[in-house]
Amino acid sequence: MLWPDCKVLHAIKGRRRSRWGSMRGSRLKISCSFWFVLLFGAGGLILFIHLQDLSDMVQQQGPGQALCSNTISLLLLKVDMLEAGKMVHFPAFNWSKPEQASHRVTKRHRKLLKTSSAIRSLSNFSSLSSPTPKSWQHFYHMQKARHKLIEEVCAKYRSNISQTVTSHHVSRIYVEDRHKLLYCEVPKAGCSNWKRVLMVLAGVASSTQKINHETVHYSNHLTRLDSLDQHAVSERLRSYTKVLFIREPMERLVSAYRDKFESPNSYYHPVFGKPIISKYRVNASKSALRTGSGVTFQEFIRYLLDVHRPIGMDIHWEPVSQLCSPCLLDYDFIGKFETIEEEANFLLHRVGAPKNLTFPTFKDRNPEAARTSTRITQHYFTQLSASDRQRVYDFYYMDYLMFNYSKPFHDVY
Ligand SMILES: *[C@@H]1O[C@H](CO)[C@@H](O)[C@H](O)[C@H]1NC(C)=O
Ligand SMILES: *[C@@H]1O[C@H](CO)[C@@H](O)[C@H](O)[C@H]1NC(C)=O
Ligand SMILES: *[C@@H]1O[C@H](CO)[C@@H](O)[C@H](O)[C@H]1NC(C)=O
Ligand SMILES: *[C@@H]1O[C@H](CO)[C@@H](O)[C@H](O)[C@H]1NC(C)=O
Ligand SMILES: *[C@@H]1O[C@H](CO)[C@@H](O)[C@H](O)[C@H]1NC(C)=O
Ligand SMILES: *[C@@H]1O[C@H](CO)[C@@H](O)[C@H](O)[C@H]1NC(C)=O
Repeated sequence: MLWPDCKVLHAIKGRRRSRWGSMRGSRLKISCSFWFVLLFGAGGLILFIHLQDLSDMVQQQGPGQALCSNTISLLLLKVDMLEAGKMVHFPAFNWSKPEQASHRVTKRHRKLLKTSSAIRSLSNFSSLSSPTPKSWQHFYHMQKARHKLIEEVCAKYRSNISQTVTSHHVSRIYVEDRHKLLYCEVPKAGCSNWKRVLMVLAGVASSTQKINHETVHYSNHLTRLDSLDQHAVSERLRSYTKVLFIREPMERLVSAYRDKFESPNSYYHPVFGKPIISKYRVNASKSALRTGSGVTFQEFIRYLLDVHRPIGMDIHWEPVSQLCSPCLLDYDFIGKFETIEEEANFLLHRVGAPKNLTFPTFKDRNPEAARTSTRITQHYFTQLSASDRQRVYDFYYMDYLMFNYSKPFHDVY
């Protein structure tokens, strides 16, 4: 029996109402209070300045790296502590919006940073010393740039953004309380491996190697954010590290098509394949209509672009801008599937994951088929007309814009 990937079962008749229906309409304000923004903005700026200073230092000194990386780790922790106003175990990322800081506040905090004695008690956090200053800086700037872009794109399209967090907006998010992580599941962008990691972090599995695909998706070991009550949800949205991993939209789409329609699938063939074939295939054979197998890429794209789809949307091809509400939820860490290993491992290190836990590289579905690459994606899209390519691009336009993927074809605009 083949299972659908990443819980698809509410794909059909709209989304299931969750227990958390009361959240709808209630006012969970997303904007933080002003002082909070200032404070954590200032923290970011201090961090930024110090990273700059230290990177210069490293470049001049050469082999003094080990020392510098320790210093940077301490500074990072220090900044987070200032914001929390107390000692914390492992802080959340707090990497967004430093550009809003004013210099006055920055100075004050810089002073605080120097005079506080708390830094001494941090000599214990030796596990923080492994990323080199260069990699800290690399990830920090990368995250800053990704945040800034999302913010800009969201601001531009603000009129069409809901201002209230409802259970629907958090229905794709998984909760890991021990390390204070929220992970928004994006199918075809490493979600199975992320779920394995969350299970190990949560202590329900000792190693990612031992978790098979069915357990990942059907064991109910992971908590979904929309299963919690309103207070618990807003508390976690406020204080946990919110993580999103995305993928080039066309590659994700082709990956989903290959997985769900080219390979045998006891869910997608009957549920999606049958209506797709019956609507878009002229003179479909009886057996094709009966099994729903053999949907072509062109047929799949006709379905995707049809305003009167015979069967609903599905999370495997729904744009991430709708799946995870990045304009509303202000993710702390925006990772990319294309470099998932290094980015996920950095993040794991940062949230204090066990040292022996590294991001796995399982290919869950159809392990014998090649991973969908740029080349494979191009191959599929050459089967489409130029106008269909354009329309698919338009369909994922917000994802392209927000996550800074370049145009996939020369002939789209
Ligand atoms: C390091 O932390 C442990 C507990 O986490 C504590 O018992 C120990 O005293 C600390 N060592 C230093 C040098 O602070
Ligand atoms: C977008 O990506 C390009 C490279 O593809 C890079 O040069 C640019 O800095 C990125 N922009 C942002 C805002 O991240
Ligand atoms: C907002 O965007 C969604 C899809 O992104 C669209 O269906 C809807 O019509 C838009 N609403 C407005 C008011 O533009
Ligand atoms: C990692 O270490 C923990 C103990 O610290 C152990 O229980 C676990 O099995 C180890 N995992 C792997 C994959 O080795
Ligand atoms: C910033 O970090 C502090 C300390 O970890 C935390 O209390 C606060 O909620 C964080 N803010 C955000 C927006 O994550
Ligand atoms: C469909 O099948 C009928 C009978 O076999 C044939 O006459 C007709 O031309 C076919 N139509 C198409 C578009 O292939």
